[in-house]
Amino acid sequence: MLFYSLKSQGFAGPAMASLTVRQLDEKLKKQLRLRAARNGRSVEDEVRTILRGAASDTDAFPAPTESEPPGIAPAAKTDAKQVLLVIGGGIAAYKSLDLIRRLRERGVAVRVVMTDAAQKFITPLSVGALAGEHPFLDLFDAKSEFDVGHIRLARDTDLVVVAPATADLMAKLANGHADDLASAVLLATDQKILLAPAMNPQMWANKATRRNLAQLVADGVAIVGPNSGEMAESGEAGLGRMAEPLEIVAAAGALLVHASGALAGVRMLVTSGPTHEPIDPVRYIANRSSGKQGHAIAEAAARAGAAVTLISGPVNVPDPPGVTVVKVESARDMLAAVETALPADVAIFAAAVADWRTAASSREKIKKTGKGTPDLALVENPDILATVAHRKAKRPKLVIGFAAETEHVVEHARQKLARKACDWILANDVSPETGIMGGDSNTIHLVTRNGVEHWPPQSKSQVAAALIQRIAATLGGQK
Ligand code: C5P
Repeated sequence: MLFYSLKSQGFAGPAMASLTVRQLDEKLKKQLRLRAARNGRSVEDEVRTILRGAASDTDAFPAPTESEPPGIAPAAKTDAKQVLLVIGGGIAAYKSLDLIRRLRERGVAVRVVMTDAAQKFITPLSVGALAGEHPFLDLFDAKSEFDVGHIRLARDTDLVVVAPATADLMAKLANGHADDLASAVLLATDQKILLAPAMNPQMWANKATRRNLAQLVADGVAIVGPNSGEMAESGEAGLGRMAEPLEIVAAAGALLVHASGALAGVRMLVTSGPTHEPIDPVRYIANRSSGKQGHAIAEAAARAGAAVTLISGPVNVPDPPGVTVVKVESARDMLAAVETALPADVAIFAAAVADWRTAASSREKIKKTGKGTPDLALVENPDILATVAHRKAKRPKLVIGFAAETEHVVEHARQKLARKACDWILANDVSPETGIMGGDSNTIHLVTRNGVEHWPPQSKSQVAAALIQRIAATLGGQK
């Protein structure tokens, strides 16, 4: 049964009603199912993600209020954010007109570059009317080179958004081409780039596009969408529709907020979730970690402006917005991903890494032979936290571990702090009666070399916020 209760997700208020997905109209349900399938989530999780996104969007990047009616806002205030919007040549370009409008409604100044192909779909006149200034069209336009120049165009902005990002524009950016104004600007910018890909599903699935996408993600380019649904070509459907303007606005808003948060410029690495240690191709050793605490920390850090890499074991919680997520299975994969993600200023090890793995995992499924049980000899996994904390080179300034204990919580955490050479340990009691493992709240004892602080019981996102505040204060004090 599809059922999703707002109350159960902490949105409860005295007059808060429950919402049943069944009550939604068929079209919306279909869209939700498509979105959920595309993101590998249950419909309930998808709804939760959308609500969270909407709630956080309201905080981070508010839409106009009643006193500030929707419509084309006057040109940006002096402290307003500036977005450089690159419009590529695809049918989705018509949605970019709405995107300009939505950004400007929120007080963001929008400057536009259009590719030649974009001008086949929408006109510079429409773009200029909505943006409040003429779009830039030509790399060799003497007038605009004199006025602004492509280098200034690329730099005098807080964010570059490419919508629609065509397969061709993605290929150019991934390979460093600069043979027109759009690609030259993308190569010259020192600001964050957000791509909203839009193309036919076959083009999106093509190996070349996959390679380019992987390269762009590795280069730190942010991506929103594409969504699943019908294409402009009749009878074509699948993954490739450009994200809706408001989804792009939300993603842009998160990136713009990052630039001014308490952890702006801080590189942070977070591990989260359990690890799965294979016994054979179908069986594994695991634990009950949900990843909720680690993911909440990554999300809070990103909100505070940190550039966050989250290395996650297999979990059922959604990827936090604005975070680079690396998905791994085993402890050894996690260690390799952590080492690749260094250097970082802060590393937080919230993953419940399996202490042991089988000495040899079988390539084939182990069969019952009737001659007794298989020999599952165990060997110890690498200790990722201790390995990083003991590093001479590339040791993060602040290495933070967790200690999940069922007895002598603080005493064991103190021993871990010393043995693993980390700076702080957040200790918690994970005895089944506490409900912490897999639950939504946590009671933390922060153990540092200077002593112990006992934090009150609070939600995992409150723990995350408190930790991030603490880290920002500590890094601020070290400057
Ligand atoms: O499992 P243990 O209680 O020792 O975990 C304490 C801390 O060490 C946690 O922060 C956990 O993420 C980290 N750890 C790790 N690699 C391991 C075991 C634990 O990074 N193999």
